[in-house]
Amino acid sequence: MKTYNWGIIGTGFIAQKMAAALLLVPQSKLYAVASRNSSTAANFAATHNCKAYGSYEELANDPDIDIVYIATPHNYHCENTLMCISKGKHVLCEKPFAVNGREVRLMIDAAREKGVFLMEALWTRFNPRVIHAKSSIESGRLGKIKLLTGNLGDLKPFDPENRFFSKQLIGGSLLDMGIYPLFMALFMLGKPKTIKAAAGIGATGVDTNCSITLGYEDDAMAILHSSLVAATDGVCVIHCEKGKIEFGPSIYAPEKVTLVPLEGNPEDITLELTGNYYQYEAIEVIRCIEAGETSSPMWSWDDSIVLIDSMDEIRRQIGLTYEGHDIG
Ligand SMILES: NC(=O)c1ccc[n+]([C@@H]2O[C@H](COP(=O)([O-])OP(=O)(O)OC[C@H]3O[C@@H](n4cnc5c(N)ncnc54)[C@H](OP(=O)(O)O)[C@@H]3O)[C@@H](O)[C@H]2O)c1
Repeated sequence: MKTYNWGIIGTGFIAQKMAAALLLVPQSKLYAVASRNSSTAANFAATHNCKAYGSYEELANDPDIDIVYIATPHNYHCENTLMCISKGKHVLCEKPFAVNGREVRLMIDAAREKGVFLMEALWTRFNPRVIHAKSSIESGRLGKIKLLTGNLGDLKPFDPENRFFSKQLIGGSLLDMGIYPLFMALFMLGKPKTIKAAAGIGATGVDTNCSITLGYEDDAMAILHSSLVAATDGVCVIHCEKGKIEFGPSIYAPEKVTLVPLEGNPEDITLELTGNYYQYEAIEVIRCIEAGETSSPMWSWDDSIVLIDSMDEIRRQIGLTYEGHDIG
């Protein structure tokens, strides 16, 4: 059985999480990390027992690396991914896949042309509790979804240089946090017929509060919000004709899923999970590559396009622009 060598680009919060998660992924080895700074790379490499590169290009040029995980701020996702694909690497790139639909399509076209695997690292899609909630809906036991509510908000300390608030680093609540409730609505209800959005724009010109209402066939709706200035409950409730499913906190990695039928007793679904849950998406990467698939059927290129196109539309409505990353 082949062992796949992973490289990680970036050394921040999420890079550390994935380095730990890879220990739980079969046929996988964290082989190298790259930072813009040699000593940062060396420190990370010493902690995680891998090779260190002082530039992202050097890592992409290493012929022994099979898969690259991109863990840089949003604005670099497209260029980092294109560079790795051009060197023939498979890529798992953090969410949001890129800043706009045009960039996501460039990445997908490049992967298709090169015949390599590419996926947005939307870890929530691979969480067994979320998958269980989706199967409960699909079983039809609770009837059709009528209303989904979901939110994600955190009171972030204000720092204009930080990627959450910096306009240059594509700050704002929508692309960082609102993406999760939006994903949940798309995953549970599909592509909406209508999108209506409103936002509060903070001192640095990014959305510190964002609200989204999605409209579906019949009278079904999703009501979602995200925030950088309010610690919200992070809960998702899927109200159906014959009961509801509640899960959270948090919407991105729920600790508990509860099925509440209108008739009968509530059922807690406490699936025991291991690790930090980031391993599940990486396991799917290996499965796809072994099967010769370039896009995952679980979170496909089309799924990522629907998600980013929805965020482009929301940005259009709230007037949120990022220099160099126009929504067209
Ligand atoms: N799936 C999840 O649960 C999850 C959670 C958090 C974040 N994320 C996503 O992961 C990405 C990174 O987030 P993070 O929280 O890990 O960010 P972070 O802690 O700020 O780390 C980002 C890393 O990117 C590199 N980088 C390259 N250019 C940079 C620049 N101009 N400014 C700052 N850093 C730069 C840095 O590594 P070097 O200095 O070593 O080059 C830095 O350590 C984001 O797109 C975010 O949406 C996902």
